[in-house]
Amino acid sequence: MMQLLERFSLGFSRLAGREGTLRLPEAIWQAFIEAPYDIAPDFMGPPGYKWEDARGKDHPRYGRFVYAFAKHVKPERIVEMGTDTGGTAVGWARALVENGLGRLICVDNDAYAQSTYPLAVKTNLERLAVPESAVDLRKGDSKLVVPALAREFAGKVDIYLVDGDHTYEGARADLYNGLPMVKPGGYILVHDIDRGRKMNEQTPSHPHPVYEAFRKLAEEHKFKWCVLKFIRKHLGIIQTG
Ligand SMILES: C[S@@+](CC[C@H](N)C(=O)[O-])C[C@H]1O[C@@H](n2cnc3c(N)ncnc32)[C@H](O)[C@@H]1O
Repeated sequence: MMQLLERFSLGFSRLAGREGTLRLPEAIWQAFIEAPYDIAPDFMGPPGYKWEDARGKDHPRYGRFVYAFAKHVKPERIVEMGTDTGGTAVGWARALVENGLGRLICVDNDAYAQSTYPLAVKTNLERLAVPESAVDLRKGDSKLVVPALAREFAGKVDIYLVDGDHTYEGARADLYNGLPMVKPGGYILVHDIDRGRKMNEQTPSHPHPVYEAFRKLAEEHKFKWCVLKFIRKHLGIIQTG
């Protein structure tokens, strides 16, 4: 039943909900359909959080999609800017373990669910039996940590997920600061670009802050991009040239 529903929403996204010029390989969709419905059923948030809140109210489909994406891309290195308690980190990490290669580098300043990073994500990764050596959890402000990572891993990152500061300036800084570390042909994923949703970070000059930063990067560099609308709060994907 779940698989049928997923196929339907996928069909909708790929036809009616399609936006942008990037066409993802068929194998990614196949991996998504074949993936377990919830890639981390034992996922736990910090004390006092409900299960849904612990994932930033994101549908398991989001973690499941990033899992399928990494299963297909077989990345050597993923950088995730904005990890919180690990809703997407568990998806990346499970794929890396199953692929038998790759490392996940997470960045967070512990601003949202305070005093939980990196402990909560560590616990969730342990529940999936992810070896410590597969993950590198860095704590600090992205404006400092991402430029440092871009120097350390210049041109060596296959996938860069941006899901941190949702102001226009913050999202733009994370995207532009991280770009030098992404391999040519690598992917940048950007969450929370749904233009139908009211965001606390929106301003009169930037009514859709993260979406605008995403499109600016894609257009300035003539990168192909698409928006996946079947993922709650929408996920943008850029493939670098
Ligand atoms: C929406 S949550 C990330 C959700 C996560 N990807 C998931 O799937 O569960 C955004 C995270 O970005 C972090 N964050 C926000 N601004 C930041 C900054 N300037 N530097 C580092 N982390 C930041 C917050 O602490 C929060 O944990």
